[in-house]
Amino acid sequence: MCGIVGYVGPRPSQDILLAGLARLEYRGYDSAGVAVIDGEGSLGMRKKAGKLSALRDSLADAALADGNTGIGHTRWATHGGPTDVNAHPHLADDDRLALIHNGIIENFASLRDELAASGVAFRSETDTEVAAALLGREYRSNGGDLQLAFRSVVNRLEGAFTLLAMHQDHPGLVVGARRNSPLVIGLGEGENFLGSDVAAFVEHTRKALAIGQDQIVSITPDAVTVTDFAGTPVEAEPFDISWDAAAAEKGGWPSFMAKEVAEQPEAVANTIRGRIQGDQVIIPELDGLDELFTGINRVIITACGTASYAALVGKYAIEQWARVPVDVELAHEFRYRDPVIGDDTLVVSISQSGETMDTLMAVKYARERGARTLSICNTQGATIPRESDAVVYTHAGPEVAVASTKAFSAQITALLLLGLHMGRVRGTVQDAATDVEELTSLPDKVAKVLETEQEHVSQLASWMADTRSVLFLGRHVGYPIALEGALKLKEISYIHAEGFAAGELKHGPIALIEPGQPVFVLVPSPRHSALVHSKVVSNIQEIRARGARVIVVAEEGDAAVLPFADEVIRIPLAGAMFEPLLGVVPLQIFAMALATAKGLDVDQPRNLAKSVTVE
Ligand code: G6P
Repeated sequence: MCGIVGYVGPRPSQDILLAGLARLEYRGYDSAGVAVIDGEGSLGMRKKAGKLSALRDSLADAALADGNTGIGHTRWATHGGPTDVNAHPHLADDDRLALIHNGIIENFASLRDELAASGVAFRSETDTEVAAALLGREYRSNGGDLQLAFRSVVNRLEGAFTLLAMHQDHPGLVVGARRNSPLVIGLGEGENFLGSDVAAFVEHTRKALAIGQDQIVSITPDAVTVTDFAGTPVEAEPFDISWDAAAAEKGGWPSFMAKEVAEQPEAVANTIRGRIQGDQVIIPELDGLDELFTGINRVIITACGTASYAALVGKYAIEQWARVPVDVELAHEFRYRDPVIGDDTLVVSISQSGETMDTLMAVKYARERGARTLSICNTQGATIPRESDAVVYTHAGPEVAVASTKAFSAQITALLLLGLHMGRVRGTVQDAATDVEELTSLPDKVAKVLETEQEHVSQLASWMADTRSVLFLGRHVGYPIALEGALKLKEISYIHAEGFAAGELKHGPIALIEPGQPVFVLVPSPRHSALVHSKVVSNIQEIRARGARVIVVAEEGDAAVLPFADEVIRIPLAGAMFEPLLGVVPLQIFAMALATAKGLDVDQPRNLAKSVTVE
């Protein structure tokens, strides 16, 4: 949600912090701030409401004295509106101590009352300032031991938090802690970093340490120490960052989203790589874990947002290949009822970031009830895979735009691989040769859609810049894609959009159709099922008869749709389970082009954050 960066070393820290925040801005952009301990040993701080550019402008107008120890924050507001005062860092101990926070401190009201009663005056409406004030009080009462004071603070907090703090009496030291919220360490030469994710420091080092739940870290230029909340030293898990800084740059593209849409062939190819042997799908990470798939009689896939639509495609694929019932559950609904799960259930979670709090809590809940857990994740060292029995990484590379595109394609790819892997292990897939061929040809087919339809769909979107509502229809695996097409449009163009199962249309949504209403229809190939195809063609006729403007996404050569379509978008021929990866591409392009035509920021849509680490 919020983005956090910390630095200690020989270099001036401000530029390092600002560059880190620029890479973390996808996590929130309601405000940004930095605090630095300068060469004189005094603490300076600047924070501004709005995007990072507002902070940069403020620093350009009136520079802040630079120094070698600093922390920076980019905010997605929870407690208190997006104002300068509510921005982080928050100060305490006569403005000699600075603290930043990601998450929600659930017991902040009682702590605030306690501190107010002892005379503390608060400037902001945030829960964060309470943690800062508490740290100030503990620091003074223990005679100036920052690490001890920090430990006592984290033990009093409830909820989810990543905290970083520093005090001007301790230049060269940044302390941090995490509970249910992300924090990783970057290891440099004579300098060290902290970040919400590795993007914060990947341009400086590709060596990192993952910090576990309820752990505290102290960094100095030459040392990193990690302890649990009781102060007992713990070993942090080292990992290498597999992508470089260039992968997280726009590289000449007008937006991160445009770049990420274009990177989909590569994201799909990278996710498949190393997981096919001959004509079988064998996921090496799942080697020796056959019992995850053999001892179960049920699968639940849990996720939020775009990942939950990938999950719906996964339901079709896993049921077809592994012959086991699959349910898809929104993570935030899952644990608030009393789901029937146990050790005969495999709970698969899907998360690009691996930090979505709703999904993380669903995984923990499933584990507590004895279920087996497997995560599909795009971020190495993230919390959700660490909390799961097994992980299948998608190798989409860093996704920066808030609206997910290449990670979605990589998630579907991973689910197709998982379905075939499970089918092999369970003995329900004897011959995967055709499906393996389909998988390996996918990157080229996705590239073909991008090549042939980019201009056509963009033009269509620019003609429709004034449109106020768009509907999306699909059947079978086209249904989740209809939902995703509508979500993309809502997220970045702020247009009312809804996705429906095409068969459901006549049970209500058809009342929405009036002359001129644009409707995208994902038409399944007649080669897979003439019956399903003909039903969708009938649905098209029904809406056309009521004046809808019909935009059809259909495979090359499908002539049955021509008499009823105002526009036809073509995708290459593919197997039934593989069509979603092709059908989604024009819908992503459409949303992006329409938002661009409306002059909107496609990478940073209003009110959203890429990684939602609060419930
Ligand atoms: C947020 C983002 C969505 C994303 C969802 C799940 O709501 O705005 O784009 O689909 O989180 O994120 P995850 O990282 O768990 O895939």
